[in-house]
Amino acid sequence: MTRRAPFIVIEGLDRSGKSTQTALLLQRMKATNIPAQLVKFPDRTTAIGQMINSYLQSDSDLDDRAIHLLFSANRWELASTIEQLLNSGISVVCDRYAFSGIAFSASKGLSYEWCRSPDISLPAPDLTLFLDISPEAAKERGGYGEERYEKEEMQRKVGEIFRRIGREISADGGKWVNIDAGREREAVAEEIWKWVEGVANGAVGPSRRLWT
Ligand code: TMP
Ligand code: MG
Repeated sequence: MTRRAPFIVIEGLDRSGKSTQTALLLQRMKATNIPAQLVKFPDRTTAIGQMINSYLQSDSDLDDRAIHLLFSANRWELASTIEQLLNSGISVVCDRYAFSGIAFSASKGLSYEWCRSPDISLPAPDLTLFLDISPEAAKERGGYGEERYEKEEMQRKVGEIFRRIGREISADGGKWVNIDAGREREAVAEEIWKWVEGVANGAVGPSRRLWT
């Protein structure tokens, strides 16, 4: 019987280095013969993903709740694929997940509980790595401004909500790690690798669902 592979989520603010770190992590997993697949949310390639992309690029406007539900639906359309990969022994490394969904929408004033509900019972990560960086440091990196949510004030609120989610996930027995992403790329990659090695080599329990 194939052993279930771990589900690893990388979360963070815009410009926290998420995509770079995700790519480095995948390279390293492959080099260590850990089969792994990258999944990125939003997945802009699907029909729903294209609506999300148009909204993020400000080519279309949508009600805050409508776009929230589209982001969630975009995860649901890939949920069974994620489960199949894990059950066939392939680790999934996910660049953003439901926690981004809550953090970004709730920062616009929607209720935290309302934002959480459509993602209840999605596959739960075995490890969530939150790349934490101050909005000031993030802004200096490449500058915001290309997409809708890339504004310092919004990122500050998003960061606060992410930290709240992290405390709740930890209190609930989940594995959430805050990583100081303001450091050099290699130092961040090394810390991420330590955590991933731990879950990749350890026992992975039965699959769980978010907030159930
Ligand atoms: P990206 O830059 O990682 O492609 O993400 C695009 C933006 O979408 C980013 O500002 C975070 C935001 N977002 C949400 O608002 N809700 C979600 O559920 C996800 C996955 C991302
Ligand atoms: Mg972006």
